[in-house]
Amino acid sequence: ASILVLHGPNLNLLGTREPGVYGATTLEQINQRLRERATALGHHLLNLQSNAEHELIERIHAARDEAIDFIIINPAAFTHTSVAIRDALLAVSIPFIEVHLSNVYKREAFRHHSYFSDVAEGVICGLGAQGYELALEAAIHNIEQRN
Ligand code: DQA
Repeated sequence: ASILVLHGPNLNLLGTREPGVYGATTLEQINQRLRERATALGHHLLNLQSNAEHELIERIHAARDEAIDFIIINPAAFTHTSVAIRDALLAVSIPFIEVHLSNVYKREAFRHHSYFSDVAEGVICGLGAQGYELALEAAIHNIEQRN
């Protein structure tokens, strides 16, 4: 199956961005680990990081034409602002898991609300880079249950 991993704004800076909050692992390291794990299990992993809301939306639209089976998304700051990305995910009706590196509930109140959580298959937050690996396991489990 094909799984798309989407990373929102500022996540290109992982590794050097507030390492006390987001950890020392770079985005390339995260993507590489996920790709290896997916390939080992016989699946295909694609990814995109963008700082632009419209690019993430267009990637989600394209995912439907490409028959992407599952999306793993860390919408980053768009988590707390983007009705448009939420609507895009609902429009293509591809199931998704929401991931956050940090435990957003330990942080500022404005991070406590997500436009995604109530329509996600599941949400993983506060487990750092490992959260993406757990999300991938869950995504594959979800796909295999469906087939
Ligand atoms: C984040 C949490 C968001 O509140 C923040 O804006 C981010 C990253 C996380 O992975 O912990 O950019 O999604």
